[in-house]
Amino acid sequence: YIDMEMITLTINGQTVQAPKNATILEAARSAGIHIPTLCYHSELAPEGACRLCVVEATGARTLVASCVYPVAEGMIVKTNTDKVRAARRMVVELLLANHPKDCLACQKSGDCELQNIAADLGLRKIRFEGGARKAHTIDASNPCLVRDQEKCILCGRCIRVCRDVQGMSVYSFAERGFDTIVSTAFEQDLGKVECSYCGQCASVCPTGAIVEK
Ligand code: FES
Repeated sequence: YIDMEMITLTINGQTVQAPKNATILEAARSAGIHIPTLCYHSELAPEGACRLCVVEATGARTLVASCVYPVAEGMIVKTNTDKVRAARRMVVELLLANHPKDCLACQKSGDCELQNIAADLGLRKIRFEGGARKAHTIDASNPCLVRDQEKCILCGRCIRVCRDVQGMSVYSFAERGFDTIVSTAFEQDLGKVECSYCGQCASVCPTGAIVEK
């Protein structure tokens, strides 16, 4: 943080110094304070899509997504209150309501961020039934990758890594609401699009939605 203008805030009662344009998440992590995340990836631009990283912050009317919310001088942040934990549990419960329950047979099992977060939050039963999400078939047409959109949590990491790191832009969001998907152009199979087979999308996917063959 040399040559950066620093500000001081308080996180969970601890005084923390952070660069003026840092996010709450960056400030917390630099102070060794854990905030769970899903759509955030340290190598990619933050998107604020999943809301798992919510915290309480003075000056904000509601809970804020710490991965995109900037720090401010004198701000008081609480990352682990009852309200925050309840909101995080709800985020994950709603994701699980819409997620296949085949963890045991999933290639990502044991290395799945959604599974790990559900375990960390102590979620032991699924309270909600999924909504009207469309059924998708598994796409194994690509020589290197297998896509199972039923397992997609719409975090957008694959979109960002393919566009911003690899410069290919194979994926983008399409449709709205329950029908929202990560789509290739014209929803073509992954074997038919201009994929460079780099595997970055599989490596950043937090679930089993994109895996390597
Ligand atoms: Fe911050 Fe997803 S990790 S909104």
